Amino acid sequence: MGVTALCPGTFDPVTNGHLDIIERAARRFDAVVVGVLDNAAKQPLFPVEDRVRMLEELTRGLAGVEVDRFSGLLVDFAKRRKVDVVVKGLRSEADFAYEQQMAQMNRHVGDVETVFLATSPTWSFLSSTLVKEVARMGGDVSGLVPPLVATRLAAALGAGR
Ligand code: PNS
Repeated sequence: MGVTALCPGTFDPVTNGHLDIIERAARRFDAVVVGVLDNAAKQPLFPVEDRVRMLEELTRGLAGVEVDRFSGLLVDFAKRRKVDVVVKGLRSEADFAYEQQMAQMNRHVGDVETVFLATSPTWSFLSSTLVKEVARMGGDVSGLVPPLVATRLAAALGAGR
């Protein structure tokens, strides 16, 4: 039986950094579930349906990758989808401090293991929050997100202005 990995996140919006981790996970595991968090309390710019659709389009060419959404606890979703391991990217020591805490909690609460992949140096400064801030203030986000996401960002922010 193959090993299934879960790449979870808010993906508001998906960046080149996220896609790098998903692609690397797809090369090393037999199947990958990309889990998009549906949590209105986070007040995302993009509704969960849009975040899922963008990820589906961007991962279409990747064998064994499937996009799904979840709400509630990650460990419950991991059990439901029968994933073997959670995969997260680590950009920095600051990420490590937070991610280690979450990994330990997920192990405690649901016996779910987490594997960390070091973020490619090209993307270690990248976050969805900063991408949105730059785009909101008229900066150029091409090269940080796929063209599809840049277009959707411009439309979403334009509509809100
Ligand atoms: O892209 P993000 O926002 O860094 O992803 C965070 C995410 C979705 C992985 C995390 O918030 C999460 O797992 N949320 C689900 C709720 C949960 O299980 N909380 C306890 C984690 S210890």
